[in-house]
Amino acid sequence: MKKILLPIVIAALLVVVTWFAIGEMSPAQERWYSMEQVSQGKEIYSQYCRDCHGESAGGMFTWQTADAEGHYPPPPLDGSGHTWHHSLSLLRKMVREGGAPLGGTMPPFEGKLTAEEIDAAIAWLQSLWPVEIYTSWRDQEQEIGY
Ligand code: HEC
Repeated sequence: MKKILLPIVIAALLVVVTWFAIGEMSPAQERWYSMEQVSQGKEIYSQYCRDCHGESAGGMFTWQTADAEGHYPPPPLDGSGHTWHHSLSLLRKMVREGGAPLGGTMPPFEGKLTAEEIDAAIAWLQSLWPVEIYTSWRDQEQEIGY
């Protein structure tokens, strides 16, 4: 009897543990982008964005301090700043149009990068965000209805 019971108990435990692991992981792992976009985005980022936003998108540590003209240095895009407060459509718009519409200095990428390339760059940036940050961003997206 014991010999039969043990494998059943182990199997049942495995089912429970897997169920919890999937329950914990899957909502946070759900992304709007693919891994192909992330690797394409990494290339695009290092070619077009890295010089300003830094090797790992950490931005400049003085990013919250405006210069004499009131311009701010490149902020971090890796989830440590406030980038995650912006919707996907606003992030796309910022990269397309640059900082000028908001009085900033970031150059526009419209004409230099396609919409797909911009999405890939954003995908790579979001892949750097801690899971809690990405989850908050996604919940906020769903609330706004984008
Ligand atoms: C010449 C420097 C420069 C380059 C190159 C650059 N940026 Fe920026 N970026 C900035 C600055 C400065 C800001 C802050 C707003 C402003 O002044 O325009 C900014 C802001 C942003 C923001 C808004 C962040 C936030 O938290 O509000 C995003 C997103 C962004 N950049 C993405 C990119 C991407 C993606 C690329 C490459 C395709 C890129 N940037 C290339 C300088 C740059």
